[in-house]
Amino acid sequence: MTAAGDGGPAATLEPALDEALAQAAEAAAGVSRRPEPVAVVIFGASGDLAARKILPALATLAARQALPDGFAVVGVARSEIGDDEFRDRCMAAAGGEEANPAWTRLVRQFRYVAGDYGEDVTFATLAEVLDELDASAGTRGNRLYYLATVPSMFGRVAGGLARHGGNRPGPGGSFARLVVEKPFGTDLDSARRLDDELHQSFDEDQIFRIDHYMGKETVQNVLALRFANAIFEPIWNRRYVDHVQVTVAERLGVEHRGNFYESAGALRDIVQNHVMQVLSLTLMEPPATMEANAIRDEKVKLLRSVVVPRADQQVEHVVRAQYGAGTCGGEAVPGYREEEGVDPRSMTETYLAMNLAVDNWRWAGVPVYIRTGKRLADRVTEVTMIFQRPPHLPFAGQLTRDLRPDSLKLRIQPDEGISLCFGAKVPGPTFRVRSVSMDFSYQQAFPGGTAEAYERLLLDAMTGDAMLFIRSDEVDQAWQIVAPIQEAFAFGEPPLAHYPAGSWGPIEADRLIEATGRQWSNP
Ligand SMILES: NC(=O)c1ccc[n+]([C@@H]2O[C@H](COP(=O)([O-])OP(=O)(O)OC[C@H]3O[C@@H](n4cnc5c(N)ncnc54)[C@H](OP(=O)(O)O)[C@@H]3O)[C@@H](O)[C@H]2O)c1
Repeated sequence: MTAAGDGGPAATLEPALDEALAQAAEAAAGVSRRPEPVAVVIFGASGDLAARKILPALATLAARQALPDGFAVVGVARSEIGDDEFRDRCMAAAGGEEANPAWTRLVRQFRYVAGDYGEDVTFATLAEVLDELDASAGTRGNRLYYLATVPSMFGRVAGGLARHGGNRPGPGGSFARLVVEKPFGTDLDSARRLDDELHQSFDEDQIFRIDHYMGKETVQNVLALRFANAIFEPIWNRRYVDHVQVTVAERLGVEHRGNFYESAGALRDIVQNHVMQVLSLTLMEPPATMEANAIRDEKVKLLRSVVVPRADQQVEHVVRAQYGAGTCGGEAVPGYREEEGVDPRSMTETYLAMNLAVDNWRWAGVPVYIRTGKRLADRVTEVTMIFQRPPHLPFAGQLTRDLRPDSLKLRIQPDEGISLCFGAKVPGPTFRVRSVSMDFSYQQAFPGGTAEAYERLLLDAMTGDAMLFIRSDEVDQAWQIVAPIQEAFAFGEPPLAHYPAGSWGPIEADRLIEATGRQWSNP
């Protein structure tokens, strides 16, 4: 990496030193933020998400000195475990005492409240514990409530907190925020009901809805790519882009979560949330500032521009499918209907492909192809902008047979980075041209590694920065886009297709895109 002053000689810096200097400059400019003292209350403290994501993320933030001095966690769930057992679990999430002394010091004051969310006494006890922590741990009345529990309890918890005054900022200007995990409803009606319930107790600006995709550096980098550079934005429109592809492919099947997946399916699990988030960031208009509502206004405007075909037209736009037995990563794997917890006659889709249109000035006439599935050939999440072909190729036909349209691939995971694919002359006596790729790799450019999504999101929620959280109208709009597809599914349309595990999906999905002379851009 190279740093150069105005007209001065370029100096080469070690990447680590370079990063450290950048961080010091950020700190001096007040850009790197440390939250105010706060008590984080985890509803669902004995559950999977708390153990796998929330507690490890908090522990890492402690190790990075990113937590405030006045900090405590209170776990709330039914399991009859006491403070000591909860603290042991918190330590286990951090990989033990030696691994993280800063966390070890904090964990000593963590508390656990055993109780049912349906009972008022749970919230009364919680309020007492939080008051005690204000005195003993210096949490100063600030609360971050994290709903990491079953969605049917979201409204009850919010109501219980409100009945005990936990939803209102305290007298000294303290804050009360509510972090909500997906799913935000299971369809448009239930999402609206959930919002009504939450809004009875918390104002919208107190609610932080998490879509962990938004915490990924590579998703945020879509904003940097588009709005920190002058070279991409001029071609980011219908005049240059032929079509857009979004792929969210998983190699894994449903693992031990067959029961959960039966009631979810690819449309609800991935498309309504993650895909809509990535799509709106990629296609939205430039925001005036990086302020939370400036960005969320643009995202929701984009979602409003998505054309939603009626349910009876969905058959032309959507392919749904289920995986059968096959070979994935060299291993023989069962079909979806043979998975544990899955109905042997299940109609739940494990794969979905669709095309959408965005009816606005920038994107009119540019199709957007989306596909997501389990048990596909590879694990990859990426957005690809495929550009139009040159209007005229002066080379003889067979000399360009290996030339694909130019494309820009935003690789969100796992091999995070960006690839620009364009035509280059093949060395030799003829003017043969073929596609080559120019790659930017996050890991090479920033060898320190990227933070886990939950670390960033928890820190943002503690500091009150809502930019990466989903606003109520975004959720609503995304449900409006998928509602006609849900309606079509309820009528058995389109018919369920099948694909072998380890493939790139059903033949019907290839036909969907090939009907317009295009192809899926497989990694
Ligand atoms: N796990 C993931 O990777 C993941 C990813 C994304 C989103 N999410 C979302 O995060 C939320 C939590 O998921 P999870 O997998 O952690 O669920 P989970 O393992 O089933 O945990 C549920 C938690 O809620 C508590 N709970 C449930 N009903 C309760 C009640 N009536 N009173 C008191 N406590 C109650 C449970 O306590 P007891 O067990 O002690 O009764 C447990 O701590 C869900 O909304 C899920 O959709 C999870």
